[in-house]
Amino acid sequence: EKGGFPSFMDKEIHDQPHAVADTLLGRTDAHGRLVLDEIRIDESVLRSVDKIVVIACGTAAYAGHVAKYAIEHWCRIPVEVELAHEFRYRDPVVNEQTLVVAVSQSGETMDTLMAVRHAREQGAKVLAIVNTHGSTIPRESDAVLYTHAGPEIAVASTKAFLAQITAAYLLGLYLAQLRGNKFADEVTAILDELRAMPDKIQQVIDRSGRVREIARWMADTQSVLFLGRHVGFPVAMEGALKLKELAYIHAEGFAAGELKHGPIALIEPGQPVFVVVPSPRGRDSLHSKVVSNIQEIRARGARTLVIAEDGDEAVRPYADEVFYVPQAPTLLAPLLAVVPLQVFACELATAKGLDVDQPRNLAKSVTVE
Ligand code: F6R
Repeated sequence: EKGGFPSFMDKEIHDQPHAVADTLLGRTDAHGRLVLDEIRIDESVLRSVDKIVVIACGTAAYAGHVAKYAIEHWCRIPVEVELAHEFRYRDPVVNEQTLVVAVSQSGETMDTLMAVRHAREQGAKVLAIVNTHGSTIPRESDAVLYTHAGPEIAVASTKAFLAQITAAYLLGLYLAQLRGNKFADEVTAILDELRAMPDKIQQVIDRSGRVREIARWMADTQSVLFLGRHVGFPVAMEGALKLKELAYIHAEGFAAGELKHGPIALIEPGQPVFVVVPSPRGRDSLHSKVVSNIQEIRARGARTLVIAEDGDEAVRPYADEVFYVPQAPTLLAPLLAVVPLQVFACELATAKGLDVDQPRNLAKSVTVE
């Protein structure tokens, strides 16, 4: 049932174009408008939402962090993202105008479930973004928007992450449409861009030979750092998490802008650093700022492994290795940039002789607090 792949994780990485396509499928009408009938929360309630709080753990929380950038941009609703186990034990300010979005692949994560209960007790509406039908979190939520990633067997999450981002984007676009703000007219165009992503994800997978090769050479590495900015920041965090959990290598993700506030002290000759570079076609100075960061760490001897968009020649002089991904709008780029990082962790762990589907000390669904 691994479909000829050496591991479930390998298979699930290859399933990602389908996970995104299937999550988008059947969610628009003949006029290209989003119809999310599953969200049984009253439209008037959704129109009056004045804050969104995403609660999740691990990879699902990183999907929430990515979605924050998009939802705030499209809807102008403030979005907070909080680890469910932290949310649960403070005194969060939520009320009837708060939409709490619980993101979970398994739908069984106890920390997230307890946070859902905590939010509902305070009058918040809870919408679950969940992959597993019939699981507990959707049953205890006001509504559910399913990701259609199919069963995820490998303990480390891959295709569910891409599907979670996709579903959270659908929610953001739906809210923009419903509230009739300035992005309401662009929903159809953005959906078209989203529908173009599965082919691009496939291209990243098809090009992953080089990242596999590098990963095998790096089997003895002690530590890897990951840098990203804007939506690339949570992607960097996710890249680091994959490497920790699969390859048992010390890894840390940073916001690239934070480098000079401390982490740059870690850079010594030979230190491998992945850098997720934003599109040069995107927002003003974001691209050049990250290119300067690459320059700064390279000057201190870092080995720079750069993920950049096709056609971005500016990164070349400072990159030991560039992994190019197809061009995409800035907000959609995480669906591409994370793939080489998943492949890297999977391949490196395999090169170390580790079981990538069942890393030590971990369970697929964490049903204890
Ligand atoms: C990382 C990973 C975990 C889960 C987290 C939440 O690869 O799999 O960090 O993302 O335990 O699990 P769910 O999404 O099932 O609530």
